[in-house]
Amino acid sequence: PAQTRAEAAKSQASRAEKAQSQPKVIIFDTTLRDGEQSPGATMTHEEKLEIASLLDEMGVDVIEAGFPIASEGDFAAVTEISKRSKNSTICGLARANYKDIDRCWEAVKHAPSPRIHTFIGTSPLHRAIPNLNMDEMAQRIHDTVTHARNLCDNVQWSAMDATRTEHDYLCRVVEIAIKAGASTINIPDTVGYTAPRESADLIAMLLQRVPGADGVIFATHCHNDLGMATANSLAAVEAGARQIECTINGLGERAGNTALEEVVMAMKVRNDIMPYRTQIDTTKIMNLSRRVSSVSGFAVQFNKAIVGKNAFLHESGIHQDGVLKNIETFEIMRPADIGLTAHNISMGKHSGRAALRSKLKELGYELADNQLNDVFVRFKALADSKKEVYDEDLLALVADEATND
Ligand code: KIV
Ligand code: ZN
Repeated sequence: PAQTRAEAAKSQASRAEKAQSQPKVIIFDTTLRDGEQSPGATMTHEEKLEIASLLDEMGVDVIEAGFPIASEGDFAAVTEISKRSKNSTICGLARANYKDIDRCWEAVKHAPSPRIHTFIGTSPLHRAIPNLNMDEMAQRIHDTVTHARNLCDNVQWSAMDATRTEHDYLCRVVEIAIKAGASTINIPDTVGYTAPRESADLIAMLLQRVPGADGVIFATHCHNDLGMATANSLAAVEAGARQIECTINGLGERAGNTALEEVVMAMKVRNDIMPYRTQIDTTKIMNLSRRVSSVSGFAVQFNKAIVGKNAFLHESGIHQDGVLKNIETFEIMRPADIGLTAHNISMGKHSGRAALRSKLKELGYELADNQLNDVFVRFKALADSKKEVYDEDLLALVADEATND
């Protein structure tokens, strides 16, 4: 039986109440730092300000606005984004040295809520680069996190290449960073090497073994080299991580970072098995995706989950018919959930009569059955000769039909 309006309102209210009691996952967006680091994705100053303001409006908790020591341009962008920020915490990246950290603080200090994010590579391969032994690196972590904490109340520390770091050493340095005052500990999968179960086990191991771990937020920062960034991030959340680092459209070096739209929509659509909440206004996703694609020059693949051109597009006759009767038949979320207004039916050789009728109605034409039959025959002939039949083609067919009458 259909729900009454009062029942619907009640169940909506109880869903909202339930959502509030669910653990919150902090969404940390690094489109402007790790995303922009992608070769060829450089954005102008104005473009960075625009993207930051859209991220802030969308409800992103932390915006990593850039790497202030990297260039004058990055410093200027992080400074200006900090000054203009409204709700989001603004974070800048710094390597494990005082000069980087001071420069980062100079840029983020204008934000109502600033954060310094400092990192060092802790795996054997990365330790070899600054040529530090384990004890020297541990000391460096202590000194730099302490220095950052003396400047800013909100310090994030990352163990770069954590997923390839020896567990005993990782536990040791995480404990040092916590004791030195870091309130967020990031466990990056820098080269996209981990897999979901391992990603979960790593977070669980740290929460269990490191003294003081229950007083900080653990973050997951995954790269997509094996196509598992979203799965690895969600597995880390299942194990207790409470911050996901991600980018719009999964923009990032090599195969990119975890895509914000994927983790956010996965938690929303599968809230029954992933009972976590984010404060993202998902209806702003599509616009941000288009803006990031346009300013970075990185096209979004057609079949990309959530934001790809085809993500809500139906061509097969059976699917189109099902969607027209009840959207849930072939869609697990509504286009409107991500801010897409029109229902997407792609007209091609697999489309049926019901889809044609609906499409023509959308274009302003309601044809009698015999007229529809004529147009349908000619539509099928046309569809056989081209990949997609556009609105203009349909309008031409309808105009021909009117002339023939
Ligand atoms: O992938 C990575 O390890 C990073 C760090 C700088 C956090 O981007
Ligand atoms: Zn990264």
